[in-house]
Amino acid sequence: MTGAPRSARTALNAPFANPQRPADESALDPDAMRQPLGNAWYCVGQARSLGTAGSRTGLRAVELNGEQIVLGRAPDGMPFALRDRCPHRGMALSKGRFDGDTLMCPFHGWRFGTDGRCRDVPTLSEHDAADFSRIQVQRFPIRESAGFLWVNPHIGPATGAVPEVPTLDFAPAGSLVVELVVEASFDLTTLSLVDPGHVAFVHDSWWFRPSKQLREKVKTFQPVPHGFVMTSHATTTSSPVYRLLGGVPEVEIEFRLPGVRLERIRAGEKRVANYTFATPLTPDRTLLTNALYWSMPALNLLKPVARPLMRQFLTQDQQVLQHAQDGLDRKPTMVLFGQGDLPSQWYFRLKREALESARDGRPFVNPLERRELRWRS
Ligand code: FES
Ligand SMILES: [Fe+2]
Repeated sequence: MTGAPRSARTALNAPFANPQRPADESALDPDAMRQPLGNAWYCVGQARSLGTAGSRTGLRAVELNGEQIVLGRAPDGMPFALRDRCPHRGMALSKGRFDGDTLMCPFHGWRFGTDGRCRDVPTLSEHDAADFSRIQVQRFPIRESAGFLWVNPHIGPATGAVPEVPTLDFAPAGSLVVELVVEASFDLTTLSLVDPGHVAFVHDSWWFRPSKQLREKVKTFQPVPHGFVMTSHATTTSSPVYRLLGGVPEVEIEFRLPGVRLERIRAGEKRVANYTFATPLTPDRTLLTNALYWSMPALNLLKPVARPLMRQFLTQDQQVLQHAQDGLDRKPTMVLFGQGDLPSQWYFRLKREALESARDGRPFVNPLERRELRWRS
């Protein structure tokens, strides 16, 4: 990494190259388009990192969109998310203890319920009339789905429907999760999830792409709520990963705001899902989470082999994104060019619509239309 000024990272002037719809910067807060969507669910780690109902677990500190958040799980199994900051003197509550009912700040022992309300100030004299019942720690909505925890960092009144949290539509026999921090902005990292053009150059490992030749691709895309989906029948010449399933698998790849890629593979009764989530940590750092789920118990044997391969795949993205970010730090513009870059433009159009519909207090209307795209990869 070079010492380029990281503060420049949010200033990405990307949506300019959209021929269908000239950028209308006047309508939106210009900063809003450069930041991750504020009102959306983001993956903050595996559900099991907080243990299960009844099991004794500690607190976990996570970072989300510049916010420090403490996560925990109550004995009834309900997870909770609070701002990781004691209102008294700013101490990180994640450094304290959770007894299953209250979190205790390690600095002066103030106690807070999992709803964020102050329950006790132990240093208060009986003769002190100060009322602590109105003291509160910010609480964030948290959900559990597909084996992960999802937090919406939005503060303030609700602003319309937000994109659904990803779910899994089969019972997995096993799963494999790899997480990697990328030193790049959320937008740049998320674009890699919808960018078919980089695959042949970045992910050229023998096990994923045995052929070095670029081939003409024709794929149909259609809008889905808050995103778009590509459906296809994988050919037998595809990656060995697909061939492992036997037959001619059906592949469906969905992209959904804020930064969710859901690849669903079906071959007869057999099911595999490869999910990728981007989570903004700070303006300069993005967490990439990749989860592979399968329905066939026999595949559990491949787990030790598959883990390093999945890590290698994600590391390929990590390296290239960090170098590209260095270039964008020097000049924050992109030229989105050709049909292979249309999904990247669609990302910005979806994001713009999410921001505009929230600002206008109206429902989100997907601005995309069904269409065929051609590119070589
Ligand atoms: S800083 Fe938390 S109790 Fe004082
Ligand atoms: Fe990639």
